[in-house]
Amino acid sequence: MADKYAVIGNPIAHSKSPIIHAAFAKQTNQDISYEAILAPLDGFEATVKDLIARGYKGANVTVPFKFKAYDICDSKSARATSSGSGAVNTLINVNGKIHGDNTDGVGLRNDIERNLNFQIVNKHVLILGAGGAAYGVMNSIIGASSITIANRTYKNALDLVMAIKDYDAKASTFESLEKPYDLIINATSIGLTEKELPIPDIIFSQHCLAYDMMYGRETLFMAQARANGAQVADGSGMLVEQAAQAFHLWRGIRPETKPVIEMIRAL
Ligand code: ATR
Repeated sequence: MADKYAVIGNPIAHSKSPIIHAAFAKQTNQDISYEAILAPLDGFEATVKDLIARGYKGANVTVPFKFKAYDICDSKSARATSSGSGAVNTLINVNGKIHGDNTDGVGLRNDIERNLNFQIVNKHVLILGAGGAAYGVMNSIIGASSITIANRTYKNALDLVMAIKDYDAKASTFESLEKPYDLIINATSIGLTEKELPIPDIIFSQHCLAYDMMYGRETLFMAQARANGAQVADGSGMLVEQAAQAFHLWRGIRPETKPVIEMIRAL
């Protein structure tokens, strides 16, 4: 019988994870099933316990349960604990115990460095946003020459700077940004709205990679970056790369990501 996996979220109907993992399984000849499971907002832990009892080998966790997942694990990887994000996106059933990991940061780094051929080391990096998504990617920009975190609420940017003391990052408002950056990552949730970030054009240049963690459509951030000559990417590559890391943790096999990213973009 096929080994069982799932992605748990609320809402979950839009999730592309089942398609991605089905493509990985086909490509690597792995006999697995992978389904999307809607957990009640107050029933995440019960859902996970039920899956473990029914022999599921692992699960991905998405909005809004990544922090809850962190709390219910019996053990966690160093990667999950060191990011400071308090979030877990991958669960592994180890003899009935729950082991948690977080593959978001490495997924982002792999997409930027391997797929987009942009090396982060020695680059000036600007992160827009200081919520859960921003915390989750801080460990993917190790080696940057400078890190600036700009946010609508300045206090939240300061809190994130304090949380990553080892990095020597700087907090900013959007309006006070005044120079170009090499890599700009939009980790705000503004792409869910039709609103525009109050960021000046000066932060973009032809040498800049502007990366929006949102996927599935051109955001106003991407349009502004493109209009100012920057290289632009959405989060489809990160989505597939974090899934590939989870697949590798579960199956011990690393799938090819490029054809799957192309498939997701074409949907
Ligand atoms: P997530 O976990 O997805 O990061 P979050 O924790 O709610 O979600 O954080 C959302 C981020 O997007 C925050 O940085 C938020 O800014 P504030 O700290 O000021 O709340 C930012 N954000 C959300 N809506 C925004 C908007 N309309 N304009 C600018 N920033 C916005």
